[in-house]
Amino acid sequence: MYQIEKLTKTYTQGKRTVHALRDVSLRIEDGELLSVQGPTGGGKSTLLQALGGLDRPTSGSVMLDGEDLATMNDAGLTTVRAETVGFVFQNFNLVPTLTARENVETALVPAGVATAERARRAVGALESVGLGERADHLPGELSGGQQQRVAIARALVKNPTVLLADEPTGNLDEDTRDEIIDLLEGLWKEQGLTLILVTHDSAVSRRTPRRIRIAKGRVQDLTAT
Ligand SMILES: Nc1ncnc2c1ncn2[C@@H]1O[C@H](COP(=O)(O)OP(=O)(O)O)[C@@H](O)[C@H]1O
Ligand SMILES: [Mg+2]
Repeated sequence: MYQIEKLTKTYTQGKRTVHALRDVSLRIEDGELLSVQGPTGGGKSTLLQALGGLDRPTSGSVMLDGEDLATMNDAGLTTVRAETVGFVFQNFNLVPTLTARENVETALVPAGVATAERARRAVGALESVGLGERADHLPGELSGGQQQRVAIARALVKNPTVLLADEPTGNLDEDTRDEIIDLLEGLWKEQGLTLILVTHDSAVSRRTPRRIRIAKGRVQDLTAT
């Protein structure tokens, strides 16, 4: 469970100050499927980075299961990223010279998983996204949708409790978009994940039980009663 209190992130660019997040407070329960909408530059990616311990906020707290990511030391954040939180990005971010299986295996290196076990789990994760047959293909030999499936397998192979996806369908056509959202929704149900999905596509956000909007660094809960 996330409990976010007065989260603020300010970037300084020369003389200019950018308020990416302003005093954001938000609670996210275990097992929620939440979409985050809002205009470009509104603060969506900044929020996701704070939730994943990829970047430190300027002030405020990001409690994840009782521990504050905002003040946690680097070793603690490395462990959170290696074990607890998985990420999926718009551009897949696969290593082009590694096969699908090798790409997925990279996620298990920081946690110190042994070689044979890494290969076994990577193939299992690729099977769970429907790509068991493509384990030895390079990213360049796969379609965009298939590459995103590999990235999803890489995010999930470490059995995280939280999956953070930043515009995961932003580079895909509509049919592939629906296929990837179906897959994420299925994995969310099966694995009891907390899934946080950044999207500016209302066809995607309409499908999630809870929706929030971020604009100009402020959050609005669209499902709040
Ligand atoms: N590393 C950075 N340095 C300076 N400004 C940044 C940086 N990252 C994001 N910003 C600024 O913070 C604001 C929020 O950005 P972001 O969270 O990426 O928005 P979104 O994902 O909703 O498009 C924008 O004005 C953006 O230009
Ligand atoms: Mg963004």
